[in-house]
Amino acid sequence: MPETVVEVQNVTRCYGKLCAVQDLSLTVEKGESFGFLGPNGAGKTTTIKMLTGFIRPDSGTIRVMGHDMARDDIEAKRRIGLVPDEYGLYDDLTAADHLRFYGRLLGMPQSDREAAIERSLKLVELTEQTNNKTKGFSHGMRQRLVIAQALMHGPAILFLDEPTTGLDPVGAKEVRDLIKKMTAGGMTLFISSHLLFEVQEMCRSVAVINRGRLLKKDTIANLSNVLKDKIGRQLFLMLQNPEKPVYDAIAAVAGVEGISVEGPAYKIRVRSPEVQFEVPKAAVDAGGRILAFYEVNPSLEDVFIDLVGVGK
Ligand SMILES: Nc1ncnc2c1ncn2[C@@H]1O[C@H](COP(=O)(O)OP(=O)(O)OP(=O)(O)O)[C@@H](O)[C@H]1O
Ligand SMILES: [Mg+2]
Repeated sequence: MPETVVEVQNVTRCYGKLCAVQDLSLTVEKGESFGFLGPNGAGKTTTIKMLTGFIRPDSGTIRVMGHDMARDDIEAKRRIGLVPDEYGLYDDLTAADHLRFYGRLLGMPQSDREAAIERSLKLVELTEQTNNKTKGFSHGMRQRLVIAQALMHGPAILFLDEPTTGLDPVGAKEVRDLIKKMTAGGMTLFISSHLLFEVQEMCRSVAVINRGRLLKKDTIANLSNVLKDKIGRQLFLMLQNPEKPVYDAIAAVAGVEGISVEGPAYKIRVRSPEVQFEVPKAAVDAGGRILAFYEVNPSLEDVFIDLVGVGK
């Protein structure tokens, strides 16, 4: 039986007339790496603030490891770690000082605190920076320090609000690798993002919200398959000679529904799997020299655009 870490039931939060989150229900199971997606202003940060007890919903309930956030918030918050979208560090404090300060705020006894500091800095690969002031830290190192801080008390779930936004490619990759390492270690993660390729790399399941409402919650694999049933299969064919006769021969195959040209490659939409085998045959018969041929599953980006896309 999967163990539920977070349970959200019919949660709504409005700011005046604008409802940032409306009637949201979802659950996150233990060990899940859960992606929380939505365009700007969709309600991701508002949701994370409610799930971590920073703001209260107008209505609905939130339970963390069975503890009701409204009635038992101290116990619920003990089980939560948060990496917020914005934070400040003290330039003149060392990495360890930050964690020591935070550990005191949490009321951790000194012996536990020092062990937790060492353990968390090791996990985020900042051991060598333990006694260095954060003044000289890169943006990526700062983000990893905030992750270490959020993990110090051994939470059951870690919330990360746009964890790689604003980082350079190297810093972003370091944070992604760290997230993947935590997932492999069985940590439960709730990651909000609009960087879909990253979510596809880091998460198994996602929820997509738009204008405060949940549109879908499922595994990425299921969402991709559902979209495939809807739009058909996409084949990728790369040719040494992507010339008109080859294009025309493929277009003439019964069951080919569309071709888009991408440099030396064609992306071909077909409905049934049988047509799949006719495509390379037609290309070769027309003199095409094939460099690569494979089926492309719909990406999380395709799924997201289908759900919240232009004009919806
Ligand atoms: N304190 C507030 N007062 C008034 N409106 C707010 C407040 N916080 C958020 N909102 C509004 O609620 C909506 C949801 O905002 P939220 O920050 O949760 O979205 P988001 O999905 O995190 O967006 P982003 O991708 O830009 O971070 C937005 O329309 C925002 O303007
Ligand atoms: Mg946000």
